[in-house]
Amino acid sequence: MMSRFIALEGADGSGKSTQVERLADWLRSEGEQVITVREPGSTSLGERVRDILLDGDEPLCAEAEALLFLSSRAQLLDEVIEPALEAGQWVIADRFHLSTVVYQGLAGELGEARAAQLCQVVLGDRRPSLNIVLEIHVEQLSKRLALRSGATDRFESRPGLAQRTVAAFEKVVGIAGDRVVRIDGRLDADQVEARIRQEVVDVLR
Ligand code: TYD
Repeated sequence: MMSRFIALEGADGSGKSTQVERLADWLRSEGEQVITVREPGSTSLGERVRDILLDGDEPLCAEAEALLFLSSRAQLLDEVIEPALEAGQWVIADRFHLSTVVYQGLAGELGEARAAQLCQVVLGDRRPSLNIVLEIHVEQLSKRLALRSGATDRFESRPGLAQRTVAAFEKVVGIAGDRVVRIDGRLDADQVEARIRQEVVDVLR
């Protein structure tokens, strides 16, 4: 496991992107150097893979889909994450392997064990030392889905997937040895931020 490497995870609408920025800002205010990455993306290959993955027209079987996420992640590790950690920086990821275990595994076609196995093969111990899941509740999700308009991506347009991911994030275990901490998304953003800081202090310092 890689210390100073933290992933924020959660269903769409859980507020993780806001919390990624808040956590990065707080660490910077403490004098740390911090980079943030998003998945899939953050490298040239990753952005191209993102286009294939999110564009709903390209036929993709379940294993190919998971392996595309993992190819983007392997490149991100090599190009961005490992050099940053070696230079003593913190890396905060907006999604990492737990998203694959949830979306392609528990809530998708592969099942948790198979998705976790594929992640293990590609990543080994190159994983965050802390995975924070922001849990939301189905009522929050329904409100958000009702407000959504316009084009949807491959994942947003899969019937029932959003609801299944909410339930899957409540129980996901990931790969053996993963530290998964859940935070209640009914708390307001300041309270969530405080809980995240507490976890980071407790676990990583
Ligand atoms: P993201 O850009 O995080 O979407 P949002 O900003 O709406 O949270 O992720 C894009 C989509 O890809 C999202 O619906 C979740 C999905 N996804 C997977 O299915 N598997 C994965 O491994 C990752 C990282 C994302």
